[in-house]
Amino acid sequence: MDNELSDIIEELRRYLNYLKSIGMEEIPVANFRMQNAECGVEIKNSVNQTSHSYPKIQKPELRIQDSKLTEAKSLEDIQKEMSDCRMCKLWSARKNIVFGSGNPHAKLIFVGEGPGEEEDIQGLPFVGRAGRKLTEIIEKGMKLDRKDVYICNVVKCRPPENREPEIDEVRACKPFLEKQIEIIKPAVIVALGRPATATLLNNKKVTISRIRGIWHEYKLVIKLMPTYHPAYLLRYYTLEHRKQIYEDMKKVVEELNKK
Ligand code: URA
Repeated sequence: MDNELSDIIEELRRYLNYLKSIGMEEIPVANFRMQNAECGVEIKNSVNQTSHSYPKIQKPELRIQDSKLTEAKSLEDIQKEMSDCRMCKLWSARKNIVFGSGNPHAKLIFVGEGPGEEEDIQGLPFVGRAGRKLTEIIEKGMKLDRKDVYICNVVKCRPPENREPEIDEVRACKPFLEKQIEIIKPAVIVALGRPATATLLNNKKVTISRIRGIWHEYKLVIKLMPTYHPAYLLRYYTLEHRKQIYEDMKKVVEELNKK
């Protein structure tokens, strides 16, 4: 019963998100009499047998999409599943969906917040200024090859003006991120910045400066290291921050070497 109820609530939540994403500001309710059955879905009220009509809107095939996502066996399957994603409002301005890049069998995943302008143009994560900083951290700091790790973001479409992704956008995109992680099965996840850390730890109240450098767990099984976002280093660069990121990444390398 509990499961059934949470399924219904989840479905309702997604449906409301969908309505919002197509620009509906009100919920269609059965408060008017049906004029023409052709214009909508007819509902017979079993108590007084009045008919109501809902405006015809293209209902998203959420269950079908969801079950396809559950069945996805590879990153390509997920990518295919989201190829025309309109689950949140970010779809309308995107040039490309930025799915992720790197080694599909990586032991290490970096998760950022969302694509910026350059990423949106190229369809690849972390290829702009922050991306160059991240590459420097991976290659100079950790002595790893960028192509051996996997890099992706919480949301796969660019938020306008590079703002933080909003709660409905994160909710809509999170199942894709979770599935990516499930398929790659990394040993370690590095969460870059507050939004990625909050999303992966399911805790909206995290303060990155307090929890960075401390091992956490993603879904009780994968080690997760929160650290500063590379864009933060570009904006508020101090030697202290740089030192802290490098210390955090040293812990990550030590952990990977144990595996
Ligand atoms: N910032 C992010 O969080 N992700 C990117 O892909 C680029 C910049």
